[in-house]
Amino acid sequence: MAEVVVVIGAGQIGQAIARRVSSGKHVVLADLHQDSAQAAAEVFLNTGFDATTAVADVSSRESLHALVETATGYGDVKGVIHAAGVSPSQAPVETILKVDLYGTAVLLEEFGTVIAPGGAGVVISSQSGHRLPALTAEQDHALATTPAEELLSLPMLAAGQVTDTLHAYQLAKRANSLRVKAEAVRWAKRGARVNTISPGIVITPLARDELTGPRGEGYRRMIELSPVGRAGTPDEIANLAALLMGSDGAFITGSDILADGGVTASFYYGELAPK
Ligand SMILES: NC(=O)c1ccc[n+]([C@@H]2O[C@H](COP(=O)([O-])OP(=O)(O)OC[C@H]3O[C@@H](n4cnc5c(N)ncnc54)[C@H](O)[C@@H]3O)[C@@H](O)[C@H]2O)c1
Repeated sequence: MAEVVVVIGAGQIGQAIARRVSSGKHVVLADLHQDSAQAAAEVFLNTGFDATTAVADVSSRESLHALVETATGYGDVKGVIHAAGVSPSQAPVETILKVDLYGTAVLLEEFGTVIAPGGAGVVISSQSGHRLPALTAEQDHALATTPAEELLSLPMLAAGQVTDTLHAYQLAKRANSLRVKAEAVRWAKRGARVNTISPGIVITPLARDELTGPRGEGYRRMIELSPVGRAGTPDEIANLAALLMGSDGAFITGSDILADGGVTASFYYGELAPK
């Protein structure tokens, strides 16, 4: 039986992670856009990987369930890389909550029922979740454990409560880390682990949309004033993901690792602190 790695969101971060953890395995490159998945597959096939594509919409349980069926048809799902998402400048509040928050919850449920023993997952969250002020213990608990189908009905996510697309994104990304923490307990029952990475600004098409969008100036300032003083690359996130998904990460599950060049540190204790 082949070992399978599923990438949901075959963008730059997803591909970089998959290249590090998929040698000798079958890679399913899934994306909302068939042409994106296909473009990724060309590169993978030209560089020694066994890869196929799938069209999947993270915001649809039906679609994710079909992807699970496709993936398990190839073999044992040993790796799940969730790197699909929309950023604050790319979509309205409802779409951000549906894709980034609800979609991640469903994906963890769906793949958490088939992940193979010894398997591992990684969910790409964001530094944005770290800038959201603390929520109450009850809100944290609700985001972590409310059944996925009821999540978007939580009062804290109601129309008047979510101020704008950035707020929606921050809430979704905070929820991703909380959700992974709760799901790590369930995944462990199958002998599997799951963690979140919260990247800072990493140059990809999504980040370039932010840098050239309405919040571009703020993002450029963030890079300039960050302790590391530059944006990150998808490969730097992938190195971390490889550690988390591999045997060196065997003691790590339910964790969220911030990799942001120190932007969050500066936001709380440095030059990026709100005046
Ligand atoms: N690049 C950054 O600076 C940065 C920082 C923090 C977090 N992130 C997160 O990293 C993840 C990956 O983004 P990236 O930077 O690699 O961007 P990217 O644009 O290269 O890839 C994102 C991919 O997600 C796909 N996608 C969008 N909506 C989808 C849906 N409903 N179903 C399935 N696929 C969908 C897109 O088609 C695209 O291929 C996102 O969750 C993003 O929020 C990125």
